Amino acid sequence: MLNFDFQNKTEIIFGKNTEERVGKEIKKYGKKVLLHYGGGSIKRTGLYDRVIKSLKNENIEIIELDGVMPNPRVSLVREGIKICRENSIDIILAVGGGSVIDSAKAICAGVPYSGDVWDFCVEGVQVENPLPLGVILTIPAAGSESSMGTVLTNEEGLYKKSFGSNLLRPKFSILNPELTYTLPAYQTAAGVVDMMVHVFERYFTNTKSVELIDRMSEAVLTTIINNGEKVLENPEGYDARAEIMWAGTLAHNDLLHTGRETDWASHKIEHELSGIYDMTHGAGLAIITPAWMKYVYKHDLDRFVQFANRVWGVDVIGDRESIALEGIKRMEKFFKRMGMPVTLQEAGITNDRFEEMAKKAISLTETIGGFVKLSKDDIVEIYKLAK
Ligand code: NZQ
Ligand code: ZN
Repeated sequence: MLNFDFQNKTEIIFGKNTEERVGKEIKKYGKKVLLHYGGGSIKRTGLYDRVIKSLKNENIEIIELDGVMPNPRVSLVREGIKICRENSIDIILAVGGGSVIDSAKAICAGVPYSGDVWDFCVEGVQVENPLPLGVILTIPAAGSESSMGTVLTNEEGLYKKSFGSNLLRPKFSILNPELTYTLPAYQTAAGVVDMMVHVFERYFTNTKSVELIDRMSEAVLTTIINNGEKVLENPEGYDARAEIMWAGTLAHNDLLHTGRETDWASHKIEHELSGIYDMTHGAGLAIITPAWMKYVYKHDLDRFVQFANRVWGVDVIGDRESIALEGIKRMEKFFKRMGMPVTLQEAGITNDRFEEMAKKAISLTETIGGFVKLSKDDIVEIYKLAK
């Protein structure tokens, strides 16, 4: 196990009706809030009215910025930064999913910074004194409700890039599983895949003697698998929704990151897909991750056998390579049962921009991936395997 510092200060407020507490939570950080949200689902579900009521009960002044799109755009972030500066906003409240939270995080970072917010993504500028952020989560998926990262899309060139800091973790995140009942099945499924891949990115490691976190990761994964189809069959089943929601946070709050090297190649390869084709991140991962696994499994066959056995229930009998491949096959079948595409063709992507995407994926570093280092040519091969 490697040395580590682990810090995650996001307060998680979990359970039924917890969104009613938002006014009191926000009040701890100030009197003027920027309410940031997406394309309108929170109005259709009635959540917006409840949030406004709770904020007004505490006499909090509200300024709104809506219109965050999935794969959040840097142009809206720039607008948000301007609004916060002009109105001396004390705290941002993000109500939505990863896209809204990420947009809010970037605004929080950008307000005190004198340059352009995209510098954080490409110039390595460090985040200092960001505005505080509160969250009401409406879709378990990205894990942004307690992660340190944010992922932005720059419309100029269709670049999708990330940056992060412990300072960007939300001060609090309200997680009420009932708020996820209204999710379209496709979004639910894409969220399930995304959280699973957040665990994979850490599970596939070259670090030895990491049994505790391996077994915790396997527990998170098997819980997601056991409850994934249940939430599709019964969207208003509280218990399964609650398991999935808490799993999504634990998958990405960095506890499962402790003491080990991590990978992140699948995410970087996928970000080029969602950057160029504006596809849903989790659906992109359902396509890329099996292809990545097929490309790298021989690097550590024992780990892939462990994965096949402990996560997918493959018996450890016979040829080890076949066991590893059977694990990957069962994962693909699960993604399909969840209604996800597992090939580029199934997602309607037939034109070949593999060279361009691979080049962009390594635009900031020569290789990507901590488990297996991948060059541009390797990435092209993975896109080909995903065809
Ligand atoms: O915009 P509205 O109308 O709210 O609709 C959203 C959106 O269309 C809808 N939705 C959300 N909650 C709903 C709902 N519809 C009905 N009922 C509800 N309760 O769902 C759609 C997708 O929302 P989005 O926020 O885009 O989903 P998600 O949470 O999957 O976020 C995806 C983004 O997060 C990034 C991804 O790259 C992508 O841009 N990621 C962020 C990470 C991080 N910050 O740590 C890590 C992840 O790996 C990921 O890369
Ligand atoms: Zn992800």
